[in-house]
Amino acid sequence: MIAKEKIEEIRDKSDIVSVISEYVPLKKRGRNFLGPCPFHSEKDPSFTVSPEKQIFHCFGCNEGGNVFSFLMKIENINFIQAAIELGAKFGVDLPEIKSTGPSKDETDKLYQVMSLAAQFYRENLSQPAREYLNKRGITDETIKTFSLGFAPAGWDNLFKYLVSRGVSPSVAAKSGLVLPRDQQEGYYDRFRERIIIPILDQRGRTIAFGGRGMGSEEPKYLNSPDTPIYSKGKNLFGLSLSKASLKEKGNALLVEGYFDLITPYQAGITNIVASLGTALTPEQCKLLVRHCSSVTLAFDTDTAGGIATERSIKLLRDNHLTVKVITFDKVKDPDEAIRKQGVAAFASPVSYLEFRLKRVLAKHDLSDIESKAAAIKGVTEILATEKDKYIRKEYAKLAASLLKVDINELLQGQFYARQGFSRESRQVRKPAAKIVEAEKNLLLLSLQNKELLAEVKSVLSAADFTQSETSALAKIVFENDSEQPAHYLLENLTDEKLKGFVSQLLMNEPEALVGRKNEILQDCVATVKGHQSSGKIAQLKQKIAEAEKQEDFGQVTELLNQLKSEIS
Ligand code: CTP
Ligand code: MN
Repeated sequence: MIAKEKIEEIRDKSDIVSVISEYVPLKKRGRNFLGPCPFHSEKDPSFTVSPEKQIFHCFGCNEGGNVFSFLMKIENINFIQAAIELGAKFGVDLPEIKSTGPSKDETDKLYQVMSLAAQFYRENLSQPAREYLNKRGITDETIKTFSLGFAPAGWDNLFKYLVSRGVSPSVAAKSGLVLPRDQQEGYYDRFRERIIIPILDQRGRTIAFGGRGMGSEEPKYLNSPDTPIYSKGKNLFGLSLSKASLKEKGNALLVEGYFDLITPYQAGITNIVASLGTALTPEQCKLLVRHCSSVTLAFDTDTAGGIATERSIKLLRDNHLTVKVITFDKVKDPDEAIRKQGVAAFASPVSYLEFRLKRVLAKHDLSDIESKAAAIKGVTEILATEKDKYIRKEYAKLAASLLKVDINELLQGQFYARQGFSRESRQVRKPAAKIVEAEKNLLLLSLQNKELLAEVKSVLSAADFTQSETSALAKIVFENDSEQPAHYLLENLTDEKLKGFVSQLLMNEPEALVGRKNEILQDCVATVKGHQSSGKIAQLKQKIAEAEKQEDFGQVTELLNQLKSEIS
């Protein structure tokens, strides 16, 4: 743990503009700085840094935070590690602190072991191993590009090699490349008689290996375990090689396997990454969002691949990525597709909607009325997940023609479904712009300091906020008691959307708010309360009219009394 005062000192001494400038070319624009967002690809810069507020916000992808959150995000490190880096850069001594992550010394040693091992495997690429790869269509140049290697037969070749280069057995064991022997002293190699594929992080450091048997041995692949420098679900195979191409195209082809990446890459499809056979994780999505805005899925053609595609579509879309899908004909995976059909097999990705619609249709027998009704229901549900009206309509047309129903019938079913939803939401959360603005101002005031927060809290509760976003934020702000609520939230909020909302609020702070905080606070509270009251009044009036219709005059009198007290 780092003392609170130290964190504050680091925050005060740090300069967000100079930190971010090391990663992003920033240009001064008025009081702020502007540059291309490092977290998503964009043509016109919308990534904004405020030196006054010491925050950043991207109006394109809603990423935002302060100097701590920026470093955590861009370097993929934890809060303590960010504090250490900032402390060192801005001259804040942190004598007593111990990072909760692995120490730099430890990770440095592991990177070194990985690099030594990669060299060992490379040097041991035997003739049969090279032939195996060549037979799979992999050229010698590609072998170099991916630093492919071979783990020779025998129990401890790598272990001996590492020790001869000064690696201690315990560090070797930590790397996961060697394991302690069962019944006796010593260690043995994890990978033996396997083709070795190095896994690199996005900066190009070797962090793990995959090993494929050359015959039909089980398991087909053996992989590095998680270590202090490698966690499986947090990396994407191939990213260090493909990231420039991802940025340039704005698109990533996402495949599952090692060779599903290597073969297309060799054929010129360089904007490609692989999830390595595990289900796509939220962390991997976040990694993708940093490099591109759309993802094309190209998974195996078997059932598991279809299910994985459906799952990934949802996750990627939740992360605001545009999703397309490639399905192959007559081959089992992208590797085989390239070898048998060439890059043409990758030429026509379809929208995720088309993929899902066709899948649901394929599941039902359209000549059977009940089954067709179920298909229509499925189609309607899928269409409802698309927010864009135009896109929805175009795919409704497609679905209608495939289902051989009238498009209006399909859209109508959907129309009812959506109308029910929006009627409800209109009542719950569509107050006048003025109220939304008042709520935002109140939140902004609460974010400034403890005193203002206490004042807002004394007259309003989170439930008084009418928007899902404002009330969610109010709830969190009101529970907070730090001196600088804004920075506290930017550093600690795990809900990315809400964090983006905070940085957006701060970045858009109205000029008027600055000098007249108390006055504006009173105004905004009055607006929010006034709205509540007018809502109640409208409700009472409606009830009175109903009671009159029913000639329930006792009820009318009672309601009139309530109305009177609400108006006065
Ligand atoms: N995988 C793994 N361990 C296994 C099987 C698979 O780690 N025992 C991972 C590998 O990253 C593999 C991916 O899952 O590349 C996809 O598996 P699969 O489709 O079974 O293999 P392929 O990639 O097609 O392997 P190959 O072409 O070499 O036969
Ligand atoms: Mn394969």
